[in-house]
Amino acid sequence: MEIETAQLFIGGEWTDASGGDYFDVVNPATERVIARVPDAGPDEMRRAIDAALAVQPHWAESTAAERAGILSKAARMMREQADDLARIMTEEEGKPFSESLGEISYAASFLEWFAEESKRIYGETIPANSSNKRILVIKRPVGLSLAITPWNFPAAMITRKVGPALAAGCPMIVKPSELTPLSALEIARIFEEAGLPKGVLSIVTGTRPGPLVAAAMEEFRVRKISFTGSTAVGKLLMKQAADSVKRVSFELGGQAPFIVFADADLDAAVENAVIAKMRSVGESCVAANRMYVQRPIVEAFTAKLSTALAAMKMGNGLEDGVSVGPLIEPRAVDKVERHVADARQKGATVILGGSKGTGAGYFYPPTILANVDDSMLIAQEETFGPVAAIMAFDTEEEVIARANNTHAGLAAYFFTRDIGRVMRLAERLEYGILGANDGLPSTAQAPFGGLKESGLGREGSHYGIDEYLDIKYVSLGGINT
Ligand code: SIN
Repeated sequence: MEIETAQLFIGGEWTDASGGDYFDVVNPATERVIARVPDAGPDEMRRAIDAALAVQPHWAESTAAERAGILSKAARMMREQADDLARIMTEEEGKPFSESLGEISYAASFLEWFAEESKRIYGETIPANSSNKRILVIKRPVGLSLAITPWNFPAAMITRKVGPALAAGCPMIVKPSELTPLSALEIARIFEEAGLPKGVLSIVTGTRPGPLVAAAMEEFRVRKISFTGSTAVGKLLMKQAADSVKRVSFELGGQAPFIVFADADLDAAVENAVIAKMRSVGESCVAANRMYVQRPIVEAFTAKLSTALAAMKMGNGLEDGVSVGPLIEPRAVDKVERHVADARQKGATVILGGSKGTGAGYFYPPTILANVDDSMLIAQEETFGPVAAIMAFDTEEEVIARANNTHAGLAAYFFTRDIGRVMRLAERLEYGILGANDGLPSTAQAPFGGLKESGLGREGSHYGIDEYLDIKYVSLGGINT
């Protein structure tokens, strides 16, 4: 099989890294190398910065209609080319083809949404402190922005940042995960074909994130960074951003509780548990990590979930009927194994799965652990794998306290028919995203983001564009004189 050699997209040109280095992209289902991609360094980042700064004034002054036109065209092209883009995503990330198709649609929806939002960057007038004055509030693009994006949603996490940045009039440089650079480069190709001016978007791929990102963080004129990834890296970037007081948006780790009360619609809870747990094989920041089930229904919930997960077919995501792909890399499998071993050793019972696959590919099957308690690693750390850890609880008070007992605060799910309880939990659970009888709350229309150590800022919705806009006001005097 011929291995494709890709190029970087810098300042509107397809180019190699100046050192001539490449890295391999591996299909996690087969462990085969599928492409070679330039291993860029600080030089390439500086070239991208220069190109972006050169076009920035022009892009900032473009009309909303021009920006919306390009974003809409790119979205349309993504939808038209969805099969090809999804195949590439499945090959580099591993997720089943149907899920990749779903992600392409999710990714396009952010471009569509922000194409429309670009037309709604409204100002305001505020009554002034003197009849001789007026106060006018205006919004302006924050400037050159850097996006650092993860491998688990290789397209949607890019468009969720590029969409609002471009809509607001900011150029953006994307440093995608080295595990999934091909989807990022495809997005660049689409924007190029959609007519985006050179330099507005650059994609810089590389395996040495430290020096690559530092080149941008040290540059004062990079005014904004948006990062999706681990909390540890987020904290490091926040420190680096402090030096030049860059705006930051962070979408960091989660530790999502999934709470099922005895009065819930059990079948709906199970159906949603499968989605919240198994979407992207559990490799999602919003994946249900701790399943708290009220004691009277623990056995029934566990049995139904077991039937549903056992029916899922694991394999190469390009094969028909596969709904469970591989994890991204051997390290990811190791972490899942560590969590399962720790739980077993501390008294958890394996109801389903519980040991990794044999043969090629980084596979771990859907797994259910019962009798889990809060002392186990799996209840304390994000697993990022297909393991449902089931814990019994008795009262609402108790489960709220246990669910909140973490530094993370991204997503929480709860299932109940009691409307009063829905509101109590919505108010008291310390999470930015609340799935009330809903295992899939993510959508371009909603303000995605976390509390506490799960992040800062919001992506998607009308709030998402504010992250790329500065607020200024004009105090206009001399009205009556
Ligand atoms: C993530 O896991 O980082 C994002 C998931 C989503 O958008 O639903």
